[in-house]
Amino acid sequence: MKSGEKLVLGIEGTAWNLSAAVVSMKGVIAEAESTYTPPSGGIHPREAAQHHSANIGEVLDRVFNTASSEGVLPEDLSAVAFSQGPGLGPCLRTVATSARALSLTLGIPLIGVNHCVAHIEVGRWNCGMRDPVVLYVSGANSQVIAYRRGRYRVFGETLDISIGNALDKFARYVGLQHPGGPKVEKLAEPAEEYVPLPYVVKGMDFSFSGLATAARDAFDAGAPLGNVCRSFQETAFSMLVEVGERALAHCGKSEMLLVGGVAANRRLNEMLSLMCEDRGARFDTPEDRFVRDNGAMIAITGLIMLENGITTPVEASAVNPNYRTDEVEVTWID
Ligand code: ATP
Ligand code: FE2
Repeated sequence: MKSGEKLVLGIEGTAWNLSAAVVSMKGVIAEAESTYTPPSGGIHPREAAQHHSANIGEVLDRVFNTASSEGVLPEDLSAVAFSQGPGLGPCLRTVATSARALSLTLGIPLIGVNHCVAHIEVGRWNCGMRDPVVLYVSGANSQVIAYRRGRYRVFGETLDISIGNALDKFARYVGLQHPGGPKVEKLAEPAEEYVPLPYVVKGMDFSFSGLATAARDAFDAGAPLGNVCRSFQETAFSMLVEVGERALAHCGKSEMLLVGGVAANRRLNEMLSLMCEDRGARFDTPEDRFVRDNGAMIAITGLIMLENGITTPVEASAVNPNYRTDEVEVTWID
């Protein structure tokens, strides 16, 4: 066993990705995953949950085997963390059941982790940030978040669909395969002409639904696909940069962290990094492996919570498919 370090097992399974990792504050010791791929169309919650229950044993075996080759045995773990929500109910329940069983068998605490907070915590940990404004952009979420008085507060968010969903919908319409974000990014790169599209920021909130429809209309009217992709990105990302900049100014913070699947986009990174440079703020985004859904983000957040004396009694460990970011009491920033 590693001397004196706390070690936590984290299990993620809010949607299509089932993964487990053992971490210490120094890094990831072992990880394993299994991904549910729907035969066609969208994700079906019950089928995804069946995938998780059929594969969780094998995923845990792999993570324990790798950990033991690193000298870490199950009895060396200090806690078991799991994704308690938000997410698909049947998937969450499968993962929670396994986590409870492990916690009882090993006689160690259980820690229910909010999936969105975990995206933030793994980003802060990986990028070495203390108190950033967070832009969380994924297939299900688009939020501008900052810590204030014991909670991660949502300062701005989408009024309709998320940016990732808008990109995926548009991509599907023009015949590109899921996930659409990376394909739109590629097509946008060489394009030069801008097609005017609606820019919608209301206070600190933004909207992508009208933009996605207008982009479809522009494509139907014969605008070259590359130009529409480029214009889609420029318009949507400018909206995110505007609100992100206002959050930095309003909160008086000097760090900006980009997390969620859309954080892989190079143009979005470039635009945010230019804005931060202008303001003298630090900009960063975690390594790819910590950006998409992963077990390490649950484990790291569980570890931070454990260090702060927060654990979840079994009777309070019911999953919460609508668990909001600002419901979590954050005691570890101040
Ligand atoms: P969450 O549950 O946290 O909302 P998720 O299930 O949506 O996460 P993620 O992997 O965080 O999963 O995000 C997936 C989204 O990221 C998809 O909409 C995809 O199109 C988008 N995406 C991935 N790569 C890129 C890219 N290079 N540019 C733009 N969007 C991207
Ligand atoms: Fe996620």
